[in-house]
Amino acid sequence: MTAPLDFSLTLYPEPILRHIAKPVAAFDADLHAIVAAMYERMRKSKGVGLAAPQVGLDQRILVLNSTGEPEDDLTLVNPEIVARSGDPTLFDEGCLSFPGIYAEIRRPDRCTVRAFDIEGRPIQAEYSGFVSRIVQHEYDHLEGVLLVDRMSPTDKLRNRAALEELVARYKRAAPAKTR
Ligand code: CO
Repeated sequence: MTAPLDFSLTLYPEPILRHIAKPVAAFDADLHAIVAAMYERMRKSKGVGLAAPQVGLDQRILVLNSTGEPEDDLTLVNPEIVARSGDPTLFDEGCLSFPGIYAEIRRPDRCTVRAFDIEGRPIQAEYSGFVSRIVQHEYDHLEGVLLVDRMSPTDKLRNRAALEELVARYKRAAPAKTR
């Protein structure tokens, strides 16, 4: 890849968001270019986390940053959540693939993750609080699980018009794909 990548966001209900993403096989220059472009897209979109399927890539890559400080960038390649623990907490989550939609989602406070960094070095870490929240949300994307699946019926009802609008927009943009 020579020119820098410029990713746009994949919005609900694009089918790729429902795929189980595939493990990254090579920790090469292409991966570096993809990760750099994912951070670029996350920052431009004012997100705190992004999963590769959200930029149309069927790969197990997450980038996140809970503070906005460059030193807090966290790249997780081929992550596995090996344990979840701590009190279940409620938090108002958004998602770059669901613009304007928020819902209170219950998740355990802590998670233990095994993954690789961008160079292919193994990572094992326990996260809590906001970082754990982001990791669990982004990890869901790699399994094809979306905000809409975890919403309470009340939140689904409250967001119904916005969800229907996203579906309508998708059908207008890609009529052939929906048939
Ligand atoms: Co999301």
